Amino acid sequence: MESIVHTLKMKEHHHLVLFLFLQLLSFSMNKASSLVDDTEREALLSFKSMVSDPRDALSGWNLSSPHCTWFGVSCSTGPVPLLGNMNKLVKLNLGHNNLSSTTEHNLQFIDSLVNCTDLEILILNSNQLVGELPSSVANLSTHLREFYVDDNFLSGSFPRGMENFRNLTVLSLHQNSFKSKVPNSIGVLHNLRRFSINQNMFFGDIPDSFSNLTQLYWLTMGNNQLSGRIPKSIGNCQRLYILGLFRNMLNGSIPKEIFGIASLSKLFLDQNAFSGSVPNEVDGLKQLEFMDVSDNQLSGNIPPTISDCSSLRSLRIARNKFSGPIPKLMVKLAGLESLDLSSNNLSGPIPQDLENLLALKNLNLSFNQLEGQVPRGGVFMNLSWDSLQGNNKLCGGEQEVAGKLRVPTCTTKKKQNISAAVKIIIPIASFVLLCVLLCFIWVLISHKKKHEKDKGTYSSSTFKGRCPKISYSEIRSATNGFAVENLIGKGAFGSVYKGLISSNGRIIQSTTPALVIPVLLPAAVALSMSGEVAKKCVSPP
Ligand SMILES: *[C@@H]1O[C@H](CO)[C@@H](O)[C@H](O)[C@H]1NC(C)=O
Ligand SMILES: *[C@@H]1O[C@H](CO)[C@@H](O)[C@H](O)[C@H]1NC(C)=O
Ligand SMILES: *[C@@H]1O[C@H](CO)[C@@H](O)[C@H](O)[C@H]1NC(C)=O
Ligand SMILES: *[C@@H]1O[C@H](CO)[C@@H](O)[C@H](O)[C@H]1NC(C)=O
Ligand SMILES: *[C@@H]1O[C@H](CO)[C@@H](O)[C@H](O)[C@H]1NC(C)=O
Ligand SMILES: *[C@@H]1O[C@H](CO)[C@@H](O)[C@H](O)[C@H]1NC(C)=O
Ligand SMILES: *[C@@H]1O[C@H](CO)[C@@H](O)[C@H](O)[C@H]1NC(C)=O
Ligand SMILES: *[C@@H]1O[C@H](CO)[C@@H](O)[C@H](O)[C@H]1NC(C)=O
Ligand SMILES: *[C@@H]1O[C@H](CO)[C@@H](O)[C@H](O)[C@H]1NC(C)=O
Ligand SMILES: *[C@@H]1O[C@H](CO)[C@@H](O)[C@H](O)[C@H]1NC(C)=O
Repeated sequence: MESIVHTLKMKEHHHLVLFLFLQLLSFSMNKASSLVDDTEREALLSFKSMVSDPRDALSGWNLSSPHCTWFGVSCSTGPVPLLGNMNKLVKLNLGHNNLSSTTEHNLQFIDSLVNCTDLEILILNSNQLVGELPSSVANLSTHLREFYVDDNFLSGSFPRGMENFRNLTVLSLHQNSFKSKVPNSIGVLHNLRRFSINQNMFFGDIPDSFSNLTQLYWLTMGNNQLSGRIPKSIGNCQRLYILGLFRNMLNGSIPKEIFGIASLSKLFLDQNAFSGSVPNEVDGLKQLEFMDVSDNQLSGNIPPTISDCSSLRSLRIARNKFSGPIPKLMVKLAGLESLDLSSNNLSGPIPQDLENLLALKNLNLSFNQLEGQVPRGGVFMNLSWDSLQGNNKLCGGEQEVAGKLRVPTCTTKKKQNISAAVKIIIPIASFVLLCVLLCFIWVLISHKKKHEKDKGTYSSSTFKGRCPKISYSEIRSATNGFAVENLIGKGAFGSVYKGLISSNGRIIQSTTPALVIPVLLPAAVALSMSGEVAKKCVSPP
């Protein structure tokens, strides 16, 4: 999990190794002229005498061969050397050779290169160089384009005179012990593409001089002691691919201008003291693959617009003060592999759809205020308890899952089942009850009808198959004011009373139930007289 970011932070180094390897291959093919520029050769021999070379990398630097063929040396010669062609040293590549500076000369070998006035590329990275660069570094060739001294033990202040090298594209100082402010003067290096000073002891403000650096592609200043705010002028670096300011003491808000750098792919601002929120404008970062703002004081919601950063592969916002919900729209981030939201104040449910993010392999939601059921599919299948710990209101759908995640089993789901059952069963039961009741009525009426026929006093034909018009007050008196002793039964749709009504509407006293009136609540009242009439009158229109 951590290794992704770590690899990234180290990546510039690996690039360099590959680059150097290719350079070394090209030297063996360099057929240089036998015409020797004495000054240059002297300079190189002087350089050799001033460094200690435990691996004998420079043993071939002797008079038996022209200096342009020496290991690591590259001259500006064409393929066929011509008389009078000046063999000017343009590239000196001695990276990865364990060279060290002796205490006696203390990096004075730089002096010897001052006479190589066509030098464009100086590569001294990954050696054992110790101490301060001499001031003569400012007198190197004004044609200098690339300057690599990273991965050594260099100390002292930021190399002097870099502003002299107007064509400088690479200034690589990372992994040393430089200790000073970063000079404002870098602002004149219009062609700078790579500025890499991470892992040193630089302090003070980041200079506000990026407005000219429109070619800048690589800007890493992480792991120093820089303080203050990020200057807005960084927004002018519209070609920026990586911005690494991690592990400093930077504060203030993250300037909106950064979210306008459409080319930005890697943004590392973790381990600082940034405050404020991440604005909605974050969706300007369409190329963004890695974003780490962990270990700051950031607050506010996670902007839902982050779901429009469609290239995002890793999002880390752990150990901040973010609050509010996890945006549901994050399910749009189909390429997301790693998501660390731990140790914030996020609340609400875990969006169920997160389980549909098939690329998502690492997820940490620990120490928030999340609640509800933990989804079960996708990344959640293999999730361990320490990716969810510290969310006291989370629960697991099944006992086994809940046990693995060390959360209680959900009770909400069961409640839902019960209420669903209640919703279905009660109407069905009521309907059945009503049917039974109607059957009972029908039987009762037909029995009565037969009885009346026998008596010849009260017949269904009296009503001629039509529903009689009987007023509410007549029903009330027929049932003796809906008296309890006249109540036959109660169903979901109302109560059923017995009462007697004569053919002309007069109430007839009787001890046997002659008339049954189902009272539909709240307003409708229907009457049943006999089997046929009852069917007609009770069934809906
Ligand atoms: C001088 O360099 C050549 C290779 O260019 C090497 O073979 C030879 O041993 C070197 N001579 C000395 C004295 O180091
Ligand atoms: C590099 O040099 C240091 C001393 O300067 C030595 O201890 C180390 O073994 C050397 N490493 C290699 C690979 O030669
Ligand atoms: C550089 O060249 C000047 C003369 O042009 C010479 O005096 C000086 O010694 C040279 N320096 C080195 C280190 O070769
Ligand atoms: C560097 O050049 C300046 C003039 O541009 C000169 O004054 C200074 O002595 C030179 N320093 C070294 C170490 O050569
Ligand atoms: C800087 O580069 C440009 C174009 O590559 C070139 O014309 C100019 O001479 C260079 N300047 C120096 C001081 O090398
Ligand atoms: C931008 O470049 C110009 C010309 O080189 C220079 O005068 C100016 O100071 C630079 N701006 C910054 C902020 O460094
Ligand atoms: C940021 O840090 C500087 C010192 O490094 C301090 O003076 C300033 O008050 C801080 N600003 C905020 C907003 O914390
Ligand atoms: C977390 O958020 C809740 C509201 O959701 C708030 O009441 C509480 O103070 C917040 N806690 C912290 C430490 O910010
Ligand atoms: C869960 O882990 C197993 C074995 O470690 C692996 O094969 C499977 O792909 C993982 N599932 C998910 C969704 O990551
Ligand atoms: C999740 O984050 C918390 C705190 O940020 C940490 O303690 C825990 O180890 C992390 N879990 C995993 C699986 O990385």
